[in-house]
Amino acid sequence: MTTALPITSAMRTTDPLALTDIDSVRMYVGNAKQAAYFYAHTFGFKIEQYSDLTTGSRSEASYLLRQGNIRLILTSGLHEEHPACQEVARFGDGVKDIAFTVRDAALSWQQAVKNGAISEHEPIQVTDATGTVTTAAIRTFGRCIHTFVSRRGGYELSKVKAGGVFMPSYARAKEFTLNQFNIEHPCGLECLDHCVGNVGLGEMNRWVQWYSEVLGFALFKHFDDQDISTEYSALMSKVMDSGSGLIKIPINEPAHGKRKSQVQEYLDYTKGVAGIQHLAFRCNDALETVTELRRRGVDFLRLPDTYYEKVWDRVEGELNAKVTEDHRRIKELGILVDADDEGYLLQLFTMPLQDRPTLFIEVICRRGSQSFGKGNFRALFESLELEQDRRGNL
Ligand code: FE2
Repeated sequence: MTTALPITSAMRTTDPLALTDIDSVRMYVGNAKQAAYFYAHTFGFKIEQYSDLTTGSRSEASYLLRQGNIRLILTSGLHEEHPACQEVARFGDGVKDIAFTVRDAALSWQQAVKNGAISEHEPIQVTDATGTVTTAAIRTFGRCIHTFVSRRGGYELSKVKAGGVFMPSYARAKEFTLNQFNIEHPCGLECLDHCVGNVGLGEMNRWVQWYSEVLGFALFKHFDDQDISTEYSALMSKVMDSGSGLIKIPINEPAHGKRKSQVQEYLDYTKGVAGIQHLAFRCNDALETVTELRRRGVDFLRLPDTYYEKVWDRVEGELNAKVTEDHRRIKELGILVDADDEGYLLQLFTMPLQDRPTLFIEVICRRGSQSFGKGNFRALFESLELEQDRRGNL
C-alpha cells in the first residue's frame, strides 16, 4: 500500500483544474419521472427542480434531486436518438457524469484536453435573465464523463444551494407530500464521499495515470489482489484523490480467481464497457441513517452473523479504536465497522438498485478514518459472492 501526500488547496489556487465542489452526479435512466420517486422515497432525496418539454427542454427530461450537498440529476431522452436512450438500452440505468464546479469551465476543459483528455463537448455558455452557466465536458473511463461547470450571477452554486434555480430551462418542482415527509424524516445523507469505477482487465493503471495527468489527482491508496480476494474471486483497486477532501475515485479491475470477479460480473452486463459501480454517500449518524433507510425498504447486503463475533476484537483490540456507537444496534442494523491509525468508519452497501447488477449505493460514516474499510473486504466479498451465486453469475 502506498500513501501519497495530499494536494493542498493553496497549491491549486491558480490552477484552472482547481475543483471547488461536486456540481452534480447525473444518471441516465429509462424514465426520469418515475426514477425520481424511487430515489426520493428510498433514499430521502427532495425532488427539487425539473427540466422538460414544459420548461423548453425539447430533447430530454431531467429531475434535480437534492439531499445535503448531493445534487443528483436523473435524465431521460425524449427520442430514441438521444444518447440517454441509446445508453440505457445498452447498459441500463447508470451514472453518466460526475460534474465538477470550477471557476472557469472553458479554461478547465482547455487544460484537461491539453493534458490528454478526449473532449465530450466544447464549452457551451447559456445565459438568461438570472445569470450564466458554462459547461464543457471530457470523457473518462467507458460510458462516463466529467463536466466542468462554472456559474455566474443567480446561478452561482451558493445561490443554488440556497434554493435558487439550477440552470436555464430548470424550474422549481411544486411542493408535495413526499418532499414534506422527507423533511420530517431525514435520511441524513450529506455528500458524495467517493465513486468507484469498474474498468476492464489490465486497464486500471491506465486510468490511474489518466486521473493523475489530466486532472492532477494523486494516488491515495493501493489495494492489490492479496488485499481483496476470497477463495473464488478477486479484484484490484487504486484510489485517486482530488485533494482538499473533495472526492476520491477508486478504480477497480478484475483479477484472476477461481470464479468470476464481481467486477467481471458488472462488465458482463455492460458488454465490457467501463462505468461507475457504486456511489458512496457520507452521513454523520450511521445508526439513524441506516434505520431510516431500512424503514423505507432499502435492501442492504447481508453479512454472516460470524462477522460480529470477530469485528470488535479486530477494530477495538488490534486496531485500538473506540467505537462510541451502540455495538448492539450496529449488529442489529447489519452495519460494518473498520479502523485504521486515523480512526474508524461505519459503512453499509445496498443490493443492486436495478435489475442489472450494475449499480449500488454505499452509506459511509467517517470517525477519523479516511480509508475504505479494507478490513471488511473479505467478509463483504464473500457476501457479494453469495448474491452473485444467487443471480447465477459466479
Ligand atoms: Fe466504496
